[in-house]
Amino acid sequence: MIVAIDGPAGCGKSTIARMLSQNLGFLYVNSGNIYRAISLWAVEHGISPEQSSKIIEEARKLDLRYQPDGSLTMNGRKLDKELRSSEVDAVVSQISAIPEIREIVNMIVHESAKGRDAVAEGRDITTVVFPNAEVKFYLDASVEERARRRLNEHVSNQNADEIIKNIQMRDKIDKSKPVGALKIAEDAIYLDTSGLTIEQVYAKVYSKILYTREEHGQ
Ligand code: DC
Repeated sequence: MIVAIDGPAGCGKSTIARMLSQNLGFLYVNSGNIYRAISLWAVEHGISPEQSSKIIEEARKLDLRYQPDGSLTMNGRKLDKELRSSEVDAVVSQISAIPEIREIVNMIVHESAKGRDAVAEGRDITTVVFPNAEVKFYLDASVEERARRRLNEHVSNQNADEIIKNIQMRDKIDKSKPVGALKIAEDAIYLDTSGLTIEQVYAKVYSKILYTREEHGQ
């Protein structure tokens, strides 16, 4: 069974997807992290996002895979915090907009989830990557709520106004990509998580999945 989740930056989808994968015993696939890994490779090799043919050529050779413990490795190296560095943040939107890079990432996601139960999340998972997923969610939250959550994480040195501007900019980029833009799939369950705790969102999502599993006799 594939559980597909899309939503804008900061809507809480990674937290929910991780909790689901742990409780259901499903593989967790964070497609944003695969775009981040390719971006990290470019940063570490001094290649700018404008050098798209070089990035495409090298990305095809990278061995990016999910390990049984759920971690993402690149040529055998386990990736973690470095995926969220400011250098990666600065180039990942541009690199994830390259159509050939999107094909590579989609292939890695498909390979990882082949023949397995998985929870996959990103921006185009419900629309492009797994259009036939058994259950689809679009998680949303207001810009203000997402900024508040980001402030509470205390990981950014930006103030509230800067965080809001940054979220608005990311939303615009995500929604206007020529390929793989963030959209609400017609058959996705739309959930506005503003004002809800993670536990409340989780309870809603989990009950929908149990219901779908019963329907499918799984
Ligand atoms: O979810 P995130 O912020 O870690 O994603 C990193 C970047 O990758 C962000 O610019 C959005 C982009 N992305 C995408 O274009 N398609 C996806 N399926 C997932 C992420």
